[in-house]
Amino acid sequence: MVLKTIILAAGKGTRMKSSLPKVLHPVAGKPMLHHVLEAASSLGGDITIVYGHGGDQVKDKSTQINLKWAEQVEQLGTGHAVQQAQSSIEDDDTVLILYGDVPLTNPQTLKKLVSKTSKQVLALLTVKLDKPTGYGRIIRQDNNVERIVEQKDASEAELLVTEVNTGILAVNGQHLKSWLSKLQSNNAQGEFYLTDIIEMAVNDGVLVETVSPDSEFEVMGVNSKRELNIVERHYQKIQAEALMDMGVTLADANRIDIRGELDIQGKDIYIDVNCVFEGKVTLGSNVNIAANCNMTNTMLADGVTIKPNSVLEGCRVGENSSIGPYARLRPGAVLNKNVHVGNFVEIKKTNVDDGSKISHLSYIGDAEIGKGVNIGAGTITCNYDGVSKFKTIIEDGVFIGSDTQLVAPVVVKKGATIGAGTTLTKTAPEGELTLSRAKQITLKGWQKPTKD
Ligand code: UD1
Ligand code: CA
Repeated sequence: MVLKTIILAAGKGTRMKSSLPKVLHPVAGKPMLHHVLEAASSLGGDITIVYGHGGDQVKDKSTQINLKWAEQVEQLGTGHAVQQAQSSIEDDDTVLILYGDVPLTNPQTLKKLVSKTSKQVLALLTVKLDKPTGYGRIIRQDNNVERIVEQKDASEAELLVTEVNTGILAVNGQHLKSWLSKLQSNNAQGEFYLTDIIEMAVNDGVLVETVSPDSEFEVMGVNSKRELNIVERHYQKIQAEALMDMGVTLADANRIDIRGELDIQGKDIYIDVNCVFEGKVTLGSNVNIAANCNMTNTMLADGVTIKPNSVLEGCRVGENSSIGPYARLRPGAVLNKNVHVGNFVEIKKTNVDDGSKISHLSYIGDAEIGKGVNIGAGTITCNYDGVSKFKTIIEDGVFIGSDTQLVAPVVVKKGATIGAGTTLTKTAPEGELTLSRAKQITLKGWQKPTKD
């Protein structure tokens, strides 16, 4: 038996009111289709995506190798969609049908479904809902599933049924192909309904077994921005709960968003409100992150403090360093231990060694900063001449006075002091005071202008 998973993703998603294909709308920063692909990949086997609207965009965004694609030019129903992928189905295969807009299905639930499936058994994922409106209803006779009736085709009595079709099912390949060939569109929507294969299965003596998910969110489909938000908030809540279970203290579990992986490497981590984590962010012990911080692909070592409104991307912050408020660390900022970065400081592609301080209003790019360096307020590395980038090297124990421009390439040697307001264009020698400054003058007896 080979598992063939078919993901239906051809729908237009009109109700999303967006030019982005529905399945590419993100949940926790990742397209819904990718959540489905991850679950599908974890089961092994082949995966075919049935695409239609925005096909090229969907393909571009799905870089996974070994994906097969089947185009559904016209959207004539879920049965018609599966027909587009049937050339890849062998008789002995088990076929699992998933939906590109149902992002949170647990792989365990899918495994259960697949393991029940055989030539004699079709497995159907169903769920009981308080408000079943809109869904296909599961019609049972003597407790056995007999057929599925769509909302628009259901009688008054059938509409009262609360057990609904999630759309997700697993079925033997040979049966599926034979039933697909018999589908007709004589129903309220004039569509080829995949759900009609249930009645065909029963007629052919195949048993329809049902499996239920642990939570309704697993089978929730997204058709509108409201539903997208329900799924997003649920996903974030689960992640926040997992963090708290690992010992992280959250100021408010409803005000943290993780769009990627938050890798907890220590104890006694505190995260204040409105922080957003993207990509992979690693946190050591005793890390304290204040309100309104945004972190992407960042590593914070033990004892790091991030003050409010700081933005960190592609950087590493060493033990016991303190960043912010209002700091911006850009890709390639690598800070060692006990470094202090203060307000309105931007650092890019720069190593800062132990104990150095850049406390106020500075831009430091393409630089090497040694140990115990103090960089005064308003210091700027002039690293770019409009064509190329150049490096600034500041050795151990240097003191840079406020409002200094370091015109790269330039070196400040060990222990040097640079006077405030200097435009440094040449090497500053070790241990000396270097400054460039126009002489101060006073015009004696100068009069302020007056109005007539
Ligand atoms: C379908 C089921 C219904 C079930 C519900 C669960 C059928 C006939 N009905 O109804 O029993 O309760 O899902 O959400 O199957 N799609 C295509 N090509 C098409 C039509 C649909 O790829 O021609 C895809 C859509 O992109 C979507 C999925 O199939 O991902 C479901 O289609 P949709 O039209 O939303 O189905 P429902 O009418 O909601
Ligand atoms: Ca429909």
